[in-house]
Amino acid sequence: MKKIGILFGQENTFPQAFVDRVNQKAVDGITAEFVKIEQVEQAVPCGYDVIIDRISQDVPFYRAYLKNAALTGTSIINNPFWWSADEKFFNNALAVQLGVPVPKTLLLPSKHRPDDTSENSFRNLAMFDWEKAFERIGFPAFMKPHSGGGWKSVYKVDNAEQAWRAYDETGQLVMLYQEAIEFEDYFRCYCLGGKHVLIMPYEPRNAPHERYQTTMKTQGEAGQQLLDTIKDYTLRLCQGLGYDFNTVEFAVRDGVPIAIDFGNPAPDADVNSVGAENFEWVVEHAAQLAIERAQANQGGKTNLTWGSFVQDAVSGAPAAAKASAADVQVGSPVTETNDLGATGAPKPAAKKAAPKKAADAPQPEPPTGEVPVAKAPAAKKAAAPKAAAASAPAKKAAAPKAPAAKKAAPKKAE
Ligand SMILES: Nc1ncnc2c1ncn2[C@@H]1O[C@H](COP(=O)(O)OP(=O)(O)O)[C@@H](O)[C@H]1O
Ligand SMILES: [Mg+2]
Repeated sequence: MKKIGILFGQENTFPQAFVDRVNQKAVDGITAEFVKIEQVEQAVPCGYDVIIDRISQDVPFYRAYLKNAALTGTSIINNPFWWSADEKFFNNALAVQLGVPVPKTLLLPSKHRPDDTSENSFRNLAMFDWEKAFERIGFPAFMKPHSGGGWKSVYKVDNAEQAWRAYDETGQLVMLYQEAIEFEDYFRCYCLGGKHVLIMPYEPRNAPHERYQTTMKTQGEAGQQLLDTIKDYTLRLCQGLGYDFNTVEFAVRDGVPIAIDFGNPAPDADVNSVGAENFEWVVEHAAQLAIERAQANQGGKTNLTWGSFVQDAVSGAPAAAKASAADVQVGSPVTETNDLGATGAPKPAAKKAAPKKAADAPQPEPPTGEVPVAKAPAAKKAAAPKAAAASAPAKKAAAPKAPAAKKAAPKKAE
């Protein structure tokens, strides 16, 4: 008998539905249950052929358990080694190589030094040049943790002072400073097994009770092309990263889908947030995927998915992801609650002209927001916070003291 297990945390609807769906299928020689962990010993198999991991981002003990299980033959969805390695900045860089448009993005040195480091730990790092960053990225912009999730410590800023105020709150977090995409359509897409895609229209700018729309705004031929492009980009990203179970978010600007958040290896799959129709899709496809993996599982070897980035690195081939045979559907809007933090939710963008065809413009365009505030008046300049590495211990930034930074949750769902 091959055993499939699901490892989960506080969620209440997906795990039971998943186990029930696998068992209802009554596939010969396959059974599913909640993972049970007792004693964990090095190099000793855990007893499961497949484990769906929905929680190890929050529980380091589980992550270590899963790596040991992978070594001893369990197929883990998603690969715990890759999940430990990637983060948003790398993922964005990989997206560029994979030909998927992403917002222009810079990496910021953390505001505060990491524990147990001193000024001397940062002698390789030059003073961070905010004006240059503002010139490159423009406004509005997003500042968000390079390895985060759950909308924690995500700020939208419209000018230099807001950017500095947000930065002052970020403590030891390493942040991205990123062009804000003012969009006419927004989507979240499930991708399972690197081939099944469900595209869900989503409106993150609204108040929670009106955040979701039932249909995408782009219609007709342009709409179909947009969906095709989104499917293609979703597959490229998930195959490039090697995630079996992921969500990818796109903001669509002038007809071009731009990937915003695509490393969500334990994406929200609660019926109360994603809705009944999308829930059905994700339960069914997760059950099918787990059964396929259980049937394919070969004892005595590792049974993990590695993305094209790692595979190409090992084989010496240039990075390239190819979309394989795949299917795609448009799902119903999702319902989740979010909090954009101190600066509030992004404001709705002004209406734009009819979108251009996605295929015509594969790269993101320059920001269309306000003119970058390159020159702050002298007094304000002095208020620019210093990055940890550059921070001469002497002078404290004049910017208002911010409350202690919220700790970013380990990356997971949206
Ligand atoms: N560059 C951006 N342009 C437009 N909206 C963005 C951008 N970055 C983030 N957002 C908005 O903020 C939300 C949270 O950001 P995200 O990158 O998904 O962080 P998390 O991983 O914490 O969910 C996104 O769902 C999106 O609505
Ligand atoms: Mg997100």
